Amino acid sequence: MRAPGKAILFGEHAVVYGEGAIAIALSMHFETRVRVSRSDTTRVDGRPMDRKHHGYFAEAVERVWGDRGPLEISTTSSIPSSSGLGSSAALTVSTVGALRLLRGRLAQEEVARDGFEVEYAVQGRASPTDTSASSHGRAIYIAREPGEQLLWTIERPPARWCVHNLEFAPMNFVVGYTGKKGNTGELVERVRRGTEKSPEARAYIMEIGALVEDARGALRKGDAVRVGELMTRNHKLLEKLGVSSPDLERLIAAAAPHALGAKLTGAGGGGCMIALTTEPDACARAIDAAGGKAYRAQIDPDGVVAL
Ligand code: PMV
Repeated sequence: MRAPGKAILFGEHAVVYGEGAIAIALSMHFETRVRVSRSDTTRVDGRPMDRKHHGYFAEAVERVWGDRGPLEISTTSSIPSSSGLGSSAALTVSTVGALRLLRGRLAQEEVARDGFEVEYAVQGRASPTDTSASSHGRAIYIAREPGEQLLWTIERPPARWCVHNLEFAPMNFVVGYTGKKGNTGELVERVRRGTEKSPEARAYIMEIGALVEDARGALRKGDAVRVGELMTRNHKLLEKLGVSSPDLERLIAAAAPHALGAKLTGAGGGGCMIALTTEPDACARAIDAAGGKAYRAQIDPDGVVAL
């Protein structure tokens, strides 16, 4: 089973509070592969499975497989962990997909739903953004209200997320990895504390939500200039929420002269940035020269698939 990584174009953090988000599945450099087979004891990559080291696997097995017997799980991943590129979501999604197939049937929506439940159980607070991009592939638009190209809906009151497919004209995105890890749980918690203390932080979350709606329109129209402007505005709001880092700022500044817009992607605090550009080679070179590792982002058309 393979599942792709993802990059969030708009709405990270705010989506945890039920605002919208837009994410793309990333192919090529960024995927995980998981194999499961029946065995005599349950192991992950040769080691006995335990909840402390294998939280996502243990939760996935309990939810999808139950007590149908021990399993051998083996994994490979080319997605750097804690980098904002959805490594835990892709592992979760490919594990759930492999388990569902072993039970007899693989359906992307079921994998996306289970994947969200697993992440939610393990992380405490999570939105379905990463797991649905990895499960369905292409681009995902999450909104409070159902609309065109609705895939499925899930609630964790007060939040409700309607997961949609989103079609838009091809655009060039370049991802820049800082080489530093960001801790999603800590960053989500930092934002939560901020929103409890300050009305400004709550206003930033809502502003990000409004901007996601504009971005959806601009993507659908193919208005790359507007999409870029909105990415940069989204970044400024994330910076105000306290989730950027000096490394991210350096890569974003380096990409800016060659980009229509740029922002951090994922939880922040390190990890990755993403730029929209009409000069992908120059943009990638500038990111590399500033100490990052640049990748040309290719949108993955498939999502979770059996190999
Ligand atoms: O874990 P990451 O870096 O892929 O980012 C997750 C995105 C958040 O909005 C911060 C959390 C979530 O569950 O949506």
